[in-house]
Amino acid sequence: MTRNPGRTDWHPASWQSMSAAQQPSYPDRAALDRVVSELSRLPPIVTSWEVDALKDEIAKAQRGEAFLLQGGDCAENFDECTSENIVAKLKILLQMSLVILYGLKKPVVRVGRMAGQYAKPRSADTETRDGRSLPSFRGDLVNRSPFTVEDRTPDPALILRGYERAALTLNFVRSLIDGGFADLHHPEYWDLDWVGHSPMADEYHSIVRSISESLDFLETVSGAPVHKTRRADIYAAHEGLHLLYEQAQTRYLGRREHWYNLTTHFPWIGMRTAAIDGAHVEYFRGIENPMGIKIGAGMTREWIQDLIRVLNPNNEPGRLTLIHRFGAKSIDEHLPALIQAVRETGSPVLWVCDPMHGNTESTADGTKTRRFDNIVAELEAAFRVHKAMGSHLGGVHLELTGENVTECTGGARGLTDGDLARAYKSTVDPRLNYEQAMEIAMRIAGLHK
Ligand code: PEP
Ligand code: CO
Repeated sequence: MTRNPGRTDWHPASWQSMSAAQQPSYPDRAALDRVVSELSRLPPIVTSWEVDALKDEIAKAQRGEAFLLQGGDCAENFDECTSENIVAKLKILLQMSLVILYGLKKPVVRVGRMAGQYAKPRSADTETRDGRSLPSFRGDLVNRSPFTVEDRTPDPALILRGYERAALTLNFVRSLIDGGFADLHHPEYWDLDWVGHSPMADEYHSIVRSISESLDFLETVSGAPVHKTRRADIYAAHEGLHLLYEQAQTRYLGRREHWYNLTTHFPWIGMRTAAIDGAHVEYFRGIENPMGIKIGAGMTREWIQDLIRVLNPNNEPGRLTLIHRFGAKSIDEHLPALIQAVRETGSPVLWVCDPMHGNTESTADGTKTRRFDNIVAELEAAFRVHKAMGSHLGGVHLELTGENVTECTGGARGLTDGDLARAYKSTVDPRLNYEQAMEIAMRIAGLHK
């Protein structure tokens, strides 16, 4: 099916005739072709049923009947594909979603930046150290971070390793959920061992007690388990950046008469690859998945309207999520005009705030960080601006971890620049730690004291 009659026919590789930003340059083309054809034959990571179910959930969020919580690492890496890490990520997402559900009194759609978030856009193709230039590190799907020729040369085999890691991750998540881990009656399963007596943990536990009591009460009076609230589903999302990876797992499902990207439920187009005549938009227009578009300063009225026309020509509910990331200082200036521009298209969209990527800064010693106050300020501005414009903020997109890291400053513990060195693990963008993430959840829920 052609999504835009003004364009030539779409197929999973039609993007290849267009300009593709942020793609690695593989010296061994033959090896790359072998990998792509192998990946095309391997089974998908997700199914079209799940993808369609998520689209329905997003349509609900567009109508204000649900709230989207999307979170995870800036970039996953292969070494951190461990049971501890996956469980910790699941726990923090589940805990946050419970708080938001309790506060907003509406279902929360949980989406992890996980099971495939392995490729990163970079500001330059090469990195120079001591007069020597090598390809930039583009994430574990592409190359390796040590500064040597061998490590930095894009290696096609890593595409398969990424596919496998993504499948292992989602397989474990599904088993945990099917086995009862995400049962809302047992939130004690989600406690993170190291948290101890954090003030956030205490606050969280008092919320859990009241939820458990009301669930028990509901079940007692209705005489049946409250099935709908019993199990929490988790969907997977990643930036659809590496187009050969996405293409290889794009399948035509005859029964549905549509193409699906089955590497993930929810791919998004990054800020650097949203050119209207670029390869990424070409690829995305032909797939059936619900999708995100990151928008920041520089996005114009015409550009966003063109993107919506190309990516959602039939104004289908659930299809488009606009993830804005302007920074606390510029959201008030830029967001209102875009809300107006989107309204004029007639397309339903889900508005989501990413309060992370517009608020990245460097400390005096060059460490990348984000200040908690700026993150909160952008989020609060997002709620306020949407409300004033007669629109509504239906979700949040965060970089976070269940681990006890010190990457963003501020929050209840008042982390300072001097604390960053203590437990700074991210090799890319700084993430919220447990307390900071829970504090954000409390604020969204309107429960923050
Ligand atoms: C990201 O989400 O990690 C990212 C690179 O974001 P953006 O495209 O919004 O800069
Ligand atoms: Co990031």
